[in-house]
Amino acid sequence: MNNEITILETKDLCVNYGGIQALENINLYINIGEVVTLVGANGAGKTTTLRAISKIVNIRSGDIIYNGRTIVRRPSHEIVELGIAHCPEGRRVLAKQTVYDNLLLGAFIRHNQAEIKADIQTQFQLFPRLAERRHQLAGTLSGGEQQMLAIARALMSRPKLLLLDEPSLGLAPAIVREIFTIIENLRATGMTILLVEQNANLALQIADRGYVLEAGRITLQGNASELIVDERVKKAYLG
Ligand SMILES: Nc1ncnc2c1ncn2[C@@H]1O[C@H](COP(=O)(O)OP(=O)(O)OP(=O)(O)O)[C@@H](O)[C@H]1O
Ligand SMILES: [Mg+2]
Repeated sequence: MNNEITILETKDLCVNYGGIQALENINLYINIGEVVTLVGANGAGKTTTLRAISKIVNIRSGDIIYNGRTIVRRPSHEIVELGIAHCPEGRRVLAKQTVYDNLLLGAFIRHNQAEIKADIQTQFQLFPRLAERRHQLAGTLSGGEQQMLAIARALMSRPKLLLLDEPSLGLAPAIVREIFTIIENLRATGMTILLVEQNANLALQIADRGYVLEAGRITLQGNASELIVDERVKKAYLG
């Protein structure tokens, strides 16, 4: 695996909401083929970090380097075109549209209809539950199925980097395992993933490296196998 090549790097990234500093000098990097996890308590700034990379929030200062070039001034739609897909917290599928149409929407930056249709079939292989429910309205799917749809929809842009925000949130343990198996399968295909999770234990089990975020700052970082046995991480996040 060519996991020595950095696909994304943030440099002293700072984000404010009004007068409140949500992110302070965030420096992180992700190499091609890696699963990197961002763990931390509620309000630590995990979602904000993903939103900053996707350019959904304004960046006060700092830089984001993607494939060797700054993307900090690019608008969010261009970020998708460059190959960064964001699967948001709380799924955000279009409730009144079918599973199929939600997937089509994920391919909005693409034009080759035959390829798009083929990719939808690929998603149905990866997510058989979605295949059975292709004509069902997304709003009537279970929480776990909606999460699968949200991931599948993000994959429809053919990303080089997938940003996943709390895929396990509010799901029963069996469904969480199913979602994490899917993430592991994605990683096996070579997908590069930045995974945000409150479930630090699960996230560190599948990640290569991790960052611990506290009140908008990175306080710990390292190999996932080291973080998972770190006393500070254990005490704060692993119960
Ligand atoms: N749109 C906003 N306006 C003002 N403050 C915000 C906004 N979004 C987030 N914040 C604040 O920024 C901080 C970081 O929020 P963020 O959503 O990034 O945390 P998080 O780590 O994702 O938390 P959670 O685990 O609960 O999802 C919090 O204090 C939050 O209240
Ligand atoms: Mg969040």
